[in-house]
Amino acid sequence: MVPEVPIGDWLHQGSTDPDEVADRYDEWAQGYDDDLVTWNYQAPAVVADSVVSRHPDAGSVLDVGCGTGLVGRALRARGFTGRLLGLDISQASLDVARQGGAYDSVEQADLQQPLPLDDDSVDALVCVGVMTYLPEVEAVWREFARVVRPGGVLVTTQRDDLWDARDCQSVVDRLAAEGIWTPLEIAGPAPYLPDGYGGTPEVDCYYLTARVGGSEPTAED
Ligand SMILES: C[S@@+](CC[C@H](N)C(=O)[O-])C[C@H]1O[C@@H](n2cnc3c(N)ncnc32)[C@H](O)[C@@H]1O
Repeated sequence: MVPEVPIGDWLHQGSTDPDEVADRYDEWAQGYDDDLVTWNYQAPAVVADSVVSRHPDAGSVLDVGCGTGLVGRALRARGFTGRLLGLDISQASLDVARQGGAYDSVEQADLQQPLPLDDDSVDALVCVGVMTYLPEVEAVWREFARVVRPGGVLVTTQRDDLWDARDCQSVVDRLAAEGIWTPLEIAGPAPYLPDGYGGTPEVDCYYLTARVGGSEPTAED
């Protein structure tokens, strides 16, 4: 039997095979939250702050790649009372998220496929720590924008090395030129895992916030 790669090394490599990702996150589901606290994970708080301040009236949020539910719990801790939906490929992680009680519904889905939602069906979308596993950035971000109502907000992270390697700035610009979204903020490289993946060097990311559609800035912007 081939020995399993330690979790920190596996995270850094960033598999894009959905079956492998599901297996690894299923195995990790029970220990994930404790490990991420130990690793000083910043992103759920940063993204929850951004959604609540940019869209204080949001009645629904879709958390894509919700995992065990850290982002949902961060949103609830900041007073979000609307409908919260979670999607992930790891059923064991979804089970933990469901038990946490923050989500109105959680559902298994592969984010490398079209999202199981109608057009314009949520007010905001968050995607935290997930883009590493999704190599087709443009297709994924177009799909995110499709399900958010015009005027709604989308916040996603992308590791700083992958931001460059996957030419994410060009994708941002293309979608803006087409009126699919209006970028509000691209913060980074900014702290993501300041202590690394449990002993690896620090990991930074970009935090991209966009308003869906080509709308003029609003008072919250
Ligand atoms: C680092 S965790 C982040 C979880 C959560 N957003 C958080 O911040 O704690 C990455 C998550 O992405 C999910 N994921 C990766 N690839 C996926 C795919 N193709 N479809 C659905 N979920 C995926 C994993 O199962 C895992 O739960």
